[in-house]
Parts: sequence; structure tokens; C-alpha cells
Amino acid sequence: MSRREPLALGVFMPNCSNMPSISTHGLVPEQWQYPNNERIAQLAESLGFEYLFPVSRWRGFGGETDYLGTSLETTTWAAALLRATQRIKIFSTVHVPLFHPMVIAKIGATLAHISGDRWGLNVVSGWSQREFDMMGLTLDDHSRRYERTSAFIKILRGLWDNNGELVNHRSDWYSIKDGISLPRPKKMPDIANAGVSADAQAMTARLCDWSFMSGASIDALPRLVDAISAQAEAQGRRVKTAIFPFLLWRDTETEAQAELEKIIAHKDGEAAHNWLNDISAGSGSFDEFTENLIAASGGGLPLLGDAEMVAEQLRAIYNSGVDAVMITLQDYERDLQRFGNDIAPILRRMGVIL
Ligand SMILES: Cc1cc2nc3c(=O)[nH]c(=O)nc-3n(C[C@H](O)[C@H](O)[C@H](O)COP(=O)(O)O)c2cc1C
Repeated sequence: MSRREPLALGVFMPNCSNMPSISTHGLVPEQWQYPNNERIAQLAESLGFEYLFPVSRWRGFGGETDYLGTSLETTTWAAALLRATQRIKIFSTVHVPLFHPMVIAKIGATLAHISGDRWGLNVVSGWSQREFDMMGLTLDDHSRRYERTSAFIKILRGLWDNNGELVNHRSDWYSIKDGISLPRPKKMPDIANAGVSADAQAMTARLCDWSFMSGASIDALPRLVDAISAQAEAQGRRVKTAIFPFLLWRDTETEAQAELEKIIAHKDGEAAHNWLNDISAGSGSFDEFTENLIAASGGGLPLLGDAEMVAEQLRAIYNSGVDAVMITLQDYERDLQRFGNDIAPILRRMGVIL
């Protein structure tokens, strides 16, 4: 039996303002800026992280923080970071309805070329009508979104495939006659999808290399991993899985818990409400528990405690079959350094990372 790969570490990068919590407590206002992102990327690489992963946003969520309202576009962001690093793999996140696949094929091939094939693509279908209103676009019905995203990925894979065949495609969204885009990447870029629904899972199983999941708890993860793995296996494929935990640790669990309570006490209720309202297509009412969870971590799975406890939770995530964690942190530069000092040695001792 082949030995399982260690847990891959990634950073869910703060290329948008006020990540990760929807709160005025613990803000690092300049964190979204490029020089900060570059230092974080280089620090992550020096600590042995394998992936950087951004958020794509076109407008913020209002409130006092205008959560995610100021952001760096993720293909141009990746271009600079790929040249500022040597080994780490860097994803861009692209909203399918905003770009023609011929354009992303060219951008992706350029990023692959300038980085020695270290670039990957995360496709998102979009979920905020307020965001799309700025572009005169209407969100498709949920299943149609993923039909379009499937067409988008098939075209990209065709254009990037080194078999040299021209791409011909006709669907409700695209018409491509004798499509070609040169150069092609030397190897096929990794394609990820960050969706959680049955539509998203079915598409990811058929067409993607990675499923970026949001799990409500560690206990829920094995079922999520098994579901996507079984669907992929049925297609003769393997899809890797990743989640994005929010790591909050202090010398004692009590101190970590107190910090979480401060974040929640200072939550930006208006921004959290707008976020939830957009993602649930305007359903409008949310219980306080859900709003506090979103405010605490922006939807990431909170891992709380002292360093040993957080490492234990990461081991449990690994044992549930997850391949990678894209971590979010309060103050990325400070906390990545602390991760290297406090948590990485424990994970190494446990045999979870190399
Ligand atoms: C890890 C992760 C990252 C995501 N990143 C983005 C993003 O950058 N931009 C975006 O508009 N949506 C993003 N999403 C939202 C998803 O694309 C998707 O719309 C949402 O999870 C709802 O899932 P569903 O479409 O399967 O219902 C992300 C989701 C996850 C889990």
C-alpha cells in the first residue's frame, strides 16, 4: 500500500481588505496591500508551505468595515508573486461569467510560462447579485451556473492540452471555432472549484483537480471527502480536497476563547448580514449563531486553543482524508511566524507534515 502524502499547507491570502474576520477587532488595515502580500508569500515559502490561494471580490459588503471592499485582482496579483517566489504554487480565482475562456487560457498560459508551471486556477461561478449588478449581469439559476462553469473548464482544458487539436465548442454561452491559444502550458495547470453544493460537487468530480470545501465541523469532513472522492472515482478520477481553517491560538485555551469573544463582540453586523444575504440569494434572516460564526472567521472553520490543541485539530482534519489546508490568520505576518515556531514542530512530530 502506498504511503499517504503528508498534509499540504497553504495560505488563504489576505489580498482583500479586513480578512479574515468580519469585525473591527484585531484588524490589520494595510494587510491587503501588495508589499504585505509579498512578504507573507515569501515567509510562507520559507516555512515550507506549498500553496497560496486568493479571494476574488469586486465589491465589498458595506458596514463599518466594508468587508473585502478593497482588493487586488488575482491574476495580476499572482503574476507578481510568482516572480517574487521560487517554489510555492499560486492560484488565481476567476469568476466564470466575467471572462471569456479564450482570455483566461492566454492569461493562464502566460502565468504558467513565467513561473515554471507553478500557477493554478480556481473557478468560481459567482454568488453576489450586488457584485454582478455593477456589470449588468444576472446570476444564473444555480444548476445553470455550474453548466456554464463546466463548459468554461472544458474549453480551457482543450486549449491547454498539448495534443495540439483545435477547439470547437458550441453551447448556450460560448461559440468557438478552430480555437487555439499559444503558448500552451508545459503541463496542465491544476484546476480547483470552491463550491459546496451537489451541482458543484458533480462538476468538480468530472472536471477539476481540487475541491475547496467549507466544512461546518471537523466531524463533518470525512463525509464530505468521501462524497467527492466516490463521485470522482466513478469517473476514474482522483480529486484532492482542501479546507480553509481559521487558526486562533494563544498560550491557553481560555485566552484564545477570550480573543474569539472579542472578535464577535466587535462584529460588523451589517457586513456579516450582507454577506449572508448575498450568498443565500436574499433569504434575509439568520440566527445569531450563524452570523457570529461568519463574523469570526469569514466562513472558515475556526480552530481554537493552545498550539498543541490546534495541532491536534489539524491532525484530525488530516485523518479525515483532507489533502490540504489553506489557513487564514488574524495578523498573517505575525501569525505565520508563530505558526512556524509553535505549531509546525508539533505537526512534524506527529508525522502530519514533513
Ligand atoms: C474555499 C472557498 C473559496 C471561495 N472563494 C471565492 C471567491 O474568491 N470568490 C467568490 O465569489 N466565491 C468564492 N467562493 C464561493 C464558492 O465559489 C461558491 O459560490 C459558494 O461556496 C457557494 O457554493 P455553491 O455554488 O456550490 O452553492 C469560495 C468558496 C470556498 C469554499
